[in-house]
Amino acid sequence: GKDGYRHYMEKELHEHPVVIGQTLQRMIDPVTRQVVLPTLSFDLATLPRAVITACGSAFYAGLIGRYWLEAEARLPVDIDVASELRYRNPPLTEGGLGLLISQSGETADTLAALRGLRSAGQHVVSVLNVEASTMGRESDAVLGMVAGPEISVASTKAFTAQLAVLASLTIAIAQARGVLSPARQQHLTASLLDLPSRAAEVFVQGDAIRAMAAIIAEARDVLYLGRGICFPVALEGALKLKEISYIHAEAYAAGEMKHGPISLIDRTVPIVVIAPSNILFDKTLSNLQEARARGGRILVFTDAQGAARLKDLAEAIVVLPTVDAFVAPILYTIPVQILAYEVALLKGTDVDQPRNLAKSVTVE
Ligand code: F6R
Repeated sequence: GKDGYRHYMEKELHEHPVVIGQTLQRMIDPVTRQVVLPTLSFDLATLPRAVITACGSAFYAGLIGRYWLEAEARLPVDIDVASELRYRNPPLTEGGLGLLISQSGETADTLAALRGLRSAGQHVVSVLNVEASTMGRESDAVLGMVAGPEISVASTKAFTAQLAVLASLTIAIAQARGVLSPARQQHLTASLLDLPSRAAEVFVQGDAIRAMAAIIAEARDVLYLGRGICFPVALEGALKLKEISYIHAEAYAAGEMKHGPISLIDRTVPIVVIAPSNILFDKTLSNLQEARARGGRILVFTDAQGAARLKDLAEAIVVLPTVDAFVAPILYTIPVQILAYEVALLKGTDVDQPRNLAKSVTVE
């Protein structure tokens, strides 16, 4: 049941901290603080490259995985949505990693891409919530997210669980490749293990998120902006808003604004910005100044340091706990999904069963 929550989506949003903790418990030995993977039939140290594929939200988790694998494990990564990858026929070196991400393990395009990667000689590893699924059976290895059943059609907790798995896998691959110092390994692991507590703190920001939701609920179009590892969080925010509130939203890498979408900006198009104070913060800030100068209404997710610098520019700010840049995309996903939920409540839509959507897309 819904345990007293109004919707399954609300219940599942509240499960983020626990689900992140459970998934990390599965991935990281509590005593040694080393990542523990199932026995693999191949060597992580010699992987030439990885291809990541998935659909929808799971694809956005994959985009974040690409940043991690490139930056921390120095592994070359190709990524595409499964509906494209399955027909692309890219040249692949035998013995690469084929990394699939799926909550259900049954998505038709992701399954077809899995079979294509397998026949191209890739080692197929699937990040799945439903491990007893078709993808589970057809993979060389399964990395389970411990998210529990996800009933709401819009994915929430599965996304952060996917990220917890991908972050842990990144640490394991980086170590196997000999590119992660023990100090960096400990730092990354500690930042992950700290996340469940930080995630729980997000929920005290309910009023600030609802203030933002009230602005968005009046809009016809919304822009979501992020840079670097937070760009996929913007994509996830825009998708979730579209799915459950039926408001048109587009996500852009903040640096792309001046290459087109800036022409859309006026008072009627709110701009939601994912901007933790990381090394790209100043770049995002200058994009926001340009947007503000054109009348844009700026709504920001940031930390205390970022909030201090944005207070004159932003019309609404949600202040999140300060976390390491490595785990920021996991933390920031939570309020961004809550925002979509709050807007849907204001719009009075059928949150758990949005029109035209199915939980599992088993046909192409
Ligand atoms: C978004 C959403 C979808 C799924 C996509 C993939 O809220 O739920 O975009 O993420 O259909 O589904 P799985 O992960 O089951 O392969």
